[in-house]
Amino acid sequence: MAGHRTSTSLFTVTEDMLSPGAGAEGRLGKRLTRGQILVFPPGLLTLPNQDDLEFLRNDLGSAITLKNISFHPDGDYITGIKKDQVRRERTARILRAHNQEVQKFLTRIVPEYCKDWRIGKVNYRPLQEKGRELSRHSSNEMIHTDAFPSGATHGDRILRFFTNVHPSEPRRWKSSGLMPDLLEEFGEAAGIKRQGDRSLNPGLLGRAFSGTLRTLKRAGIPQAELVDSSPYDRAMLRLHDYLKDDDDFQADISRMVEVEFPPLHSWAVLTDLVSHGVIGGQHALVNTFYLRREHDLGTDIAPVDAMRRWMHGSSVAGSITH
Ligand SMILES: [Fe+2]
Repeated sequence: MAGHRTSTSLFTVTEDMLSPGAGAEGRLGKRLTRGQILVFPPGLLTLPNQDDLEFLRNDLGSAITLKNISFHPDGDYITGIKKDQVRRERTARILRAHNQEVQKFLTRIVPEYCKDWRIGKVNYRPLQEKGRELSRHSSNEMIHTDAFPSGATHGDRILRFFTNVHPSEPRRWKSSGLMPDLLEEFGEAAGIKRQGDRSLNPGLLGRAFSGTLRTLKRAGIPQAELVDSSPYDRAMLRLHDYLKDDDDFQADISRMVEVEFPPLHSWAVLTDLVSHGVIGGQHALVNTFYLRREHDLGTDIAPVDAMRRWMHGSSVAGSITH
């Protein structure tokens, strides 16, 4: 195997780095594309008020009906919560306002990525992650790079912004390196075929299908895009599933880094690039954004490029440097 493994690291952002003229623009984005997790101590962005935080912590654990409670800004609707009008409306209001706050914050710190991004959903995760009885592929505890079973990114990047709203418990993650290294090592075993350019080309039918779904979405049916797919997304999902299924990989502490996010801290990370699994923690807000693949994100190599190179038989390990 060529190259070297790149491990995950944290970078704490402070108020003075964000002051006008401090030159944060560009630099923080570059850190993200190199696989660093940006950590924001309390006070840098406005969180829901104390009453609303108490409501999230105390009133929603018994109301959850799916893996997460999710607010969808594109269609202004909420899923994963019992049909209880008062709780639904209050939750939607809190998550909508939080999402707008996060959008404003990211536009300030990484403006180059926000111009034509697609706003994904906002999750609230009310349950303790440690020992949740979810299926293996749904489990947040298994280390993975993000790929979703419904909807397609077509190579757009997945940026997620988390906030730990537990009053006293940290949220703890483990990470086992970056996507290009994992692809290099496990792509073959995951069954991702090396077939050159054709393997990532969606073809005429695939493109027509995705185009129809986009039209339906514009016509007011936002759920239409959930059935979209692409060769790239299917390959990423194979890697995601393979990593979660591989007991040896999950247990390999030689490559693993553990990180901790204290109460009321936020963090931003490209989760298609940085592998992650939750060790423990409760009460997190998670905003998802899709950054256009057409933009040069200043990265050494993006997952879609890594996938293309790997399919051509080129080495991709160690292609991102800090
Ligand atoms: Fe994930």
